[in-house]
Amino acid sequence: MSKAIINANRSRGVINRNIYGHFAEHLGRCIYGGLYAGGQSGIPSENGMRPDVVRALRAMGVPVLRWPGGCFADTYHWRDGVGPRHTRRKIVNTNWGGVTEDNSFGTHEFLELCRQLECEPYISGNVGSGTVQEFSDWVEYCNMGGLSPMADLRRANGREDPWHVRYWGIGNEAWGCGGNMRPEFYADLCRQYATYLRSYDSAHPLCRIASGANADDYHWTKVLMERAGEFVDAVSMHYYTVPGDWTHKGSATEFDRGAYFTTLQKALRLDELIENHTRIIRQYQGGRRVGLVVDEWGTWFDVEPGTNPGFLYQQNTMRDALVAAVSLNIFNNHCDSVVMANIAQIVNVLQAVILTEGDRMLLTPTYHVFEMYRKHQDARQLESYVETSLIGETEEGRVPNLHISASQGPDGTVLITAANLDDAQGAVLDCSLAGMGRVESVAGRVLSGGANAHNTFEAPETVRPVPLENIEQTADGFKVALPSCCVAAFEVRPG
Ligand code: AHR
Repeated sequence: MSKAIINANRSRGVINRNIYGHFAEHLGRCIYGGLYAGGQSGIPSENGMRPDVVRALRAMGVPVLRWPGGCFADTYHWRDGVGPRHTRRKIVNTNWGGVTEDNSFGTHEFLELCRQLECEPYISGNVGSGTVQEFSDWVEYCNMGGLSPMADLRRANGREDPWHVRYWGIGNEAWGCGGNMRPEFYADLCRQYATYLRSYDSAHPLCRIASGANADDYHWTKVLMERAGEFVDAVSMHYYTVPGDWTHKGSATEFDRGAYFTTLQKALRLDELIENHTRIIRQYQGGRRVGLVVDEWGTWFDVEPGTNPGFLYQQNTMRDALVAAVSLNIFNNHCDSVVMANIAQIVNVLQAVILTEGDRMLLTPTYHVFEMYRKHQDARQLESYVETSLIGETEEGRVPNLHISASQGPDGTVLITAANLDDAQGAVLDCSLAGMGRVESVAGRVLSGGANAHNTFEAPETVRPVPLENIEQTADGFKVALPSCCVAAFEVRPG
């Protein structure tokens, strides 16, 4: 039996809904064929978007969507993607498979997608191969309400009102595909770009997000914050969970227990990375508050056999569900520093929540975790503790068997999300809620299966959440037997 305690008297603050954010790059079949069906025969579309995919994403809850990259962002010239489609420039997507990008999905299409998803747009601008003027014009094009050259161009392209795009990323991975810059050089560029990204309306101030570190590159965060911290509102960080090395990452579905535990152990590193980057940000933020944006995270495996290596298409198993569960628990518990996170990527790329094949789609185990965690969005995080034992194949590869987070919604309902990382044994959870009074009712759902379990187009419902029937209500909480390798969500209503 493992004791869990949720303390309703202690909180680190509100969980920013943007922690449940997503990322869509011009990469493989993420946009073309995944989100956008414009021009593709046989796939239904509504204003170009796939209604089946949009419907599923709305049911899951997408608060914010980052676009157009990734590495693609620093090769993207936004004017190529506006105006009549037949006049748009066809370019080569040099980062991702060398395929032709016809620019039929551009700024207007992205913002239409965000409208359909009811989410905030987050645009990453081109610093690596663009200019300050080009980036500044893009902001003017999207956000200027009155008369101006860019607002007039927008109107000529069919859009009267400004979109008021709030989130702007100043480049992407400036240390790598975004220009291979040194932090000192990027920090100076970041100051310059931030200066010319104007808020055109005081009711809609911009949030300027600096291109941050790769994983544990604390030097990058230090130099950036020291030199440019006062010019930005947030600093990003990217962290991918790769079980092997970058040349042999490992299969998404065919893995042994060693790779299973290594993956989970690497995912759990997020906690330490967030703490260390946050400490540096706080040291240099002065009287302002600079947030941490983890705008790329998730698993990265070898591509599915027979698919284009440049398209990063991978399957998604219960192991991915556990990576999502622990990552989201970690973000929840760092809600006083993490203001946004964007899993990579939303459809058909890396740790996707949806996979498509022609006009068919399926929901991955990761989708279900996001849906089960949905009510954490904008809820008040609660301090939580769970007794754990260490499990794993090797001494160095050990992980705690249980991992939880909790929050309280505006109607007083407490959501507790728990993952059992043990692939061989179930666990009994004895959960007490302190500072909440009488418990009126408890309802729970669970997502479980073998570590390799996944959904296919032939069997799309192999992994899906089901109600937990065996919950025993106690004076101050509940007891429940969790299956092995599972993610569970409990809603506790106070009396
Ligand atoms: O998400 C795939 C790629 O990973 C992104 O384009 C880049 O930013 C990162 O290296």
